[in-house]
Amino acid sequence: MAIFLEEQKRTHMCGTLNASHVGQEVTLYGWVANHRDHGGMIFVDLRDRTGLVQVRFDPDLSKTVYDNADALRTEWCIGVTGQVISRGGNVNEEMATGAIEVVPTKLEIFSKAKTTPFQIRDETDANEMLRLEYRYLDLRRKPLQDALITRSKVNNIVRNYLVENNFIEVETPILTKSTPEGARDYLVPSRVNPGKFYALPQSPQIFKQLLMVSGFDRYYQIVRCFRDEDLRADRQPEFTQIDIEMSFITPNDIMTICEGLVSNVFKQILGHDVQAPFQRLPYAEAMLRYGVDKPDLRFDLELVDISEDVRNSDFGVFKDTVANGGIVRGIRIPGGAAKYSRKDITELEDYTKVYGAQGLAWLKVADGNWTGGISKFFEGEARENLAKKMAVEDGDMLVFVAASEKVVCASLGNLRNKLADDLGLTDPNVFRFAWVTDFPMFETEDGEDRLYAMHHPFTSPRAEDFHLLETDPVNVRAQAYDLVLNGSEIAGGSIRIHNDKIQSLVFEKLGMSKEEARQKFGFLLDALSYGTPPHGGIAFGMDRLIMLLTGMKSIRDVIAFPKTQRASDLMSDAPSFVDNTQLRELYLATVGVDKESK
Ligand code: AMO
Repeated sequence: MAIFLEEQKRTHMCGTLNASHVGQEVTLYGWVANHRDHGGMIFVDLRDRTGLVQVRFDPDLSKTVYDNADALRTEWCIGVTGQVISRGGNVNEEMATGAIEVVPTKLEIFSKAKTTPFQIRDETDANEMLRLEYRYLDLRRKPLQDALITRSKVNNIVRNYLVENNFIEVETPILTKSTPEGARDYLVPSRVNPGKFYALPQSPQIFKQLLMVSGFDRYYQIVRCFRDEDLRADRQPEFTQIDIEMSFITPNDIMTICEGLVSNVFKQILGHDVQAPFQRLPYAEAMLRYGVDKPDLRFDLELVDISEDVRNSDFGVFKDTVANGGIVRGIRIPGGAAKYSRKDITELEDYTKVYGAQGLAWLKVADGNWTGGISKFFEGEARENLAKKMAVEDGDMLVFVAASEKVVCASLGNLRNKLADDLGLTDPNVFRFAWVTDFPMFETEDGEDRLYAMHHPFTSPRAEDFHLLETDPVNVRAQAYDLVLNGSEIAGGSIRIHNDKIQSLVFEKLGMSKEEARQKFGFLLDALSYGTPPHGGIAFGMDRLIMLLTGMKSIRDVIAFPKTQRASDLMSDAPSFVDNTQLRELYLATVGVDKESK
């Protein structure tokens, strides 16, 4: 082995060889992707992170020179030295290196491999749990390697761009005090401070603001954040942000910097020209037209409010809902009349029920007739009005939800995305960016008076809404903005409060007593009273950005060692129980946990 690594140095990566190398002697290192024995002639596809190349072992030399090439098995790690030969008429068009093959004169087996628990193939139907358990093997597959390679390139592009724009990278602590971003904290016990805990940062929010107080002017960090929240396809308990903060700026300045960043990334990674500036969409308009605050703008299927039109409808559900303060909105589905069967409509209805809808009303328009569902309640003038309002055309299906505004938005907003998927309207090669602006400062939970910060409590209200903070906080708009791409929130930010009095008032509105505010955020309030520059910033969800760039369906596919939906790492088996000695050292005891049943 020593001879190979020390004298027989690698000359090329497997995937980089082509016809121009014919006649050259090359040394390659890699893994046996597969091997075929054709009448003693052994063909091996050798793989490294750049791709595959065919290696052809001559049977006569096999036993002697090659150190038993016929014994090679998949996933063995080997080195070969040999000549690059043209395949002549036998070019394999499927393979980037298909015009050539390598005929070795030397072979070294670095290490053998047990039979892998699943085959290392680009496309796999192996169970994801098994693949996560053997993540280091799954990471041998090209789609995952490519995603991580893209991720590394994006890191580099982002760093270069921000450095060119005078940003300074500063590392902020991981063992810290809680910064609220709306999730639960991961806590770390302190051995030297019995009974006390650090929180892992949900984001570096407060630290980056303090760096502005210190005068750093432009900060960035590509930083890990931790949130103990319910996981979904686009959420992980630890994820990475491209975190940015700037002093003496307006929202426009931040948006321009971000548009430049995104344009650079899309151009350099996909060769795609992003159209900037991006569309701006006030939150209220997004909710009205799309039902969600992160609309996918690749397609229309807009929501239409018909509450006023059905106030006196013959259809009791509509009439009663409006009478009780609810609303009715609908979606026109072009071509839906022929596409959706009764069974399909029941499925759509079940889908909306997940979001709290009681039912999905529908009707079809075919050959000039309105048929099925609630069509009989729309005749004469009512039909004409609805046809006009929803711009109805022959072949359409109309669907409606009647409920509270919250339920209508959630159910139809999500149904809209599902319909677009069904109708093939979500082309992954189209990228539609938008800034969603003017978010409300506060939100309330159903049936509660308590106010919650919609972004985070450091977000500044719009200057013209300051006066409402005391009297009508629900109607205060925030200077917050989200960047939305194809229905995904890829970044969120805001202008911050830079005045300690206003910050204290916002804490108070959030139900925090003065003592609690001091105890949690006294250091921030103090800092704000020492000449704080006006400032603001934003953070991109790096993982989501990479997901969209690579077309991956799950956030797990763009993270080297991700967690499952239950926040565990199946490979290392984290989290795990620790022994009592370790707990005692930390002054901890676990209560109500049955270790045996886990
Ligand atoms: P926010 O909470 O909106 O803002 O987070 C910024 C972006 O991070 C991504 N993101 C996540 N990605 C994967 N898994 C998660 N669990 C997860 N949670 C959030 C999203 C989101 O848009 N401090 C503020 C930023 C600021 O105001 O400057 C913050 O963290 O893409």
